[in-house]
Amino acid sequence: MKNKVKYILAGAVVTIAAMLSSCNGGGACKHKDAVVETIMTRRSIRKYQPQAIPREVMTEILDCGINAPNGQNKQSWEIRVVDKPEMLAAIKSTMAMAHPELDSAVVAGCLRDAPVMVFIARDKGYDFSAYDVGLLAENMMLSAWSMGVGSVCLGSPVRFINGSPECAPIHHLLDFSEGYELALCVGFGYPDEAPEAKPRDKGKYRFLD
Ligand SMILES: Cc1cc2nc3c(=O)[nH]c(=O)nc-3n(C[C@H](O)[C@H](O)[C@H](O)COP(=O)(O)O)c2cc1C
Repeated sequence: MKNKVKYILAGAVVTIAAMLSSCNGGGACKHKDAVVETIMTRRSIRKYQPQAIPREVMTEILDCGINAPNGQNKQSWEIRVVDKPEMLAAIKSTMAMAHPELDSAVVAGCLRDAPVMVFIARDKGYDFSAYDVGLLAENMMLSAWSMGVGSVCLGSPVRFINGSPECAPIHHLLDFSEGYELALCVGFGYPDEAPEAKPRDKGKYRFLD
């Protein structure tokens, strides 16, 4: 039994060393299998276990986010992480109050009860900032998935929050710099569902001959 554990540990060390060394030659990393598997198995998660994600884990995910490619390395984003339940509750109730024309449960539900919500703003003065935000978000979602953390990209809260004067307390809380506007939200948490992949249309790409 002891020997078996020793072999497993030795195997793990060799695998990790091989992975690390494949990144050290000045070229691209060669982790195709792991990266492709992460991309192809990631799904949007809309049901979460209630526990928070440790801040060290979120920090690693955020660091992956800000390492995304971005126009002229302007890093034309600002990111706010809300992981305090009382803050999330306040945001939900402000959104619901700002939209009395809609069912308050639907408005509050747009955050999908994710225990961590990341609000991302874009620099309105840079024409490629929306792409920067998208790439940042995708890096975060994929790295999260590789760590067992689920996520969902959310556009609807942006619509509810932006352009609604009653949501001023949320803007105040998020405190983005002058010239920045909320562009995307991403919810994170440990998954409590395993949705099937939605179909993709392979006709959307073609090679030209
Ligand atoms: C820009 C953008 C906005 C989105 N907004 C929402 C949203 O408001 N609510 C939601 O539940 N999912 C939202 N999604 C998630 C998509 O519905 C989901 O990515 C898509 O259906 C494909 O499913 P998959 O992520 O599981 O592959 C959004 C995704 C993107 C990229």
